[in-house]
Amino acid sequence: MDVDSDRSRKPATAARIYDFFLGGVHNFPADREAAAQVAAMMPTAPAMAKANRAFLRRGVRYLAASGVRQFLDLGSGMPTQGGVHQVAQEVRPDARVVYVDIDPIAVSESLEIIDGNDRATAINGDMRQPRAVLDHPQVRKMLDFDEPVALLLCAVLHFVPDDDQAYGLVEEFRAALAPGSHLLLSHGANEGAEVTVSSTQHDEVQSVYDRRTATPAGGRTRDGVARFFGDATLVDPGIVWVPQWRPEPDDPTDFADDPRLSCIWAGIGRLP
Ligand SMILES: C[S@@+](CC[C@H](N)C(=O)[O-])C[C@H]1O[C@@H](n2cnc3c(N)ncnc32)[C@H](O)[C@@H]1O
Repeated sequence: MDVDSDRSRKPATAARIYDFFLGGVHNFPADREAAAQVAAMMPTAPAMAKANRAFLRRGVRYLAASGVRQFLDLGSGMPTQGGVHQVAQEVRPDARVVYVDIDPIAVSESLEIIDGNDRATAINGDMRQPRAVLDHPQVRKMLDFDEPVALLLCAVLHFVPDDDQAYGLVEEFRAALAPGSHLLLSHGANEGAEVTVSSTQHDEVQSVYDRRTATPAGGRTRDGVARFFGDATLVDPGIVWVPQWRPEPDDPTDFADDPRLSCIWAGIGRLP
């Protein structure tokens, strides 16, 4: 079987739909079809993906500059367009990064991208099973949990719509982190439906993920997002629309007029 016909049968995944929105090349026909369905209902979807990835870059740069040397990136997608290892190691060459994703193809593409970098690795894992991720031999080898770690949960918790499961998993990861660790989080906003598309269209966008991928999606309110931070101290400016988190001159400008249209909440907190 040739590679192309094999790929043409792959079902869509959230990782590769996102890659398509970022302008990446790590996606297949089913991903592009699903992305087109989402974009038809929510034309801002590609700009939302880019604004989110720009926040991830700014956040990681901030964390590395603050002295963080270890990064556990859950739901990492593919480290293209300024991946975490690139950004972190530019600031701190000794920074170590573990990428974790539920999509095995995203993981194999990630391993190709980081090939030759002995301070970055990628594993196939489900963040809904924190113990399995934390005990994974590659995670144990790369990260020292006696030292602070930055836990990155960027645009991924909306793929865990069940509240008990989502808050429970974050709690379990947090419990494994040393004092002074950080939580970087971005999350699809429930309030987004009020400012961008009708709530029917919002539901339809969610239904594309429900029907076409193995990871159903659902937004949360700002208060719901704040709950993930628990007793962490939020770094300025707190939980804000994603383009508002410490913007930089070379950021995308799509939502300059109305940051609410990004439909994504973002924040970084320092754990006690
Ligand atoms: C929108 S992408 C975000 C990628 C990256 N974190 C970023 O913000 O640029 C969401 C990623 O989460 C992954 N994902 C969804 N559910 C997951 C789970 N339960 N465990 C691990 N990864 C998951 C998807 O495969 C996808 O790669």
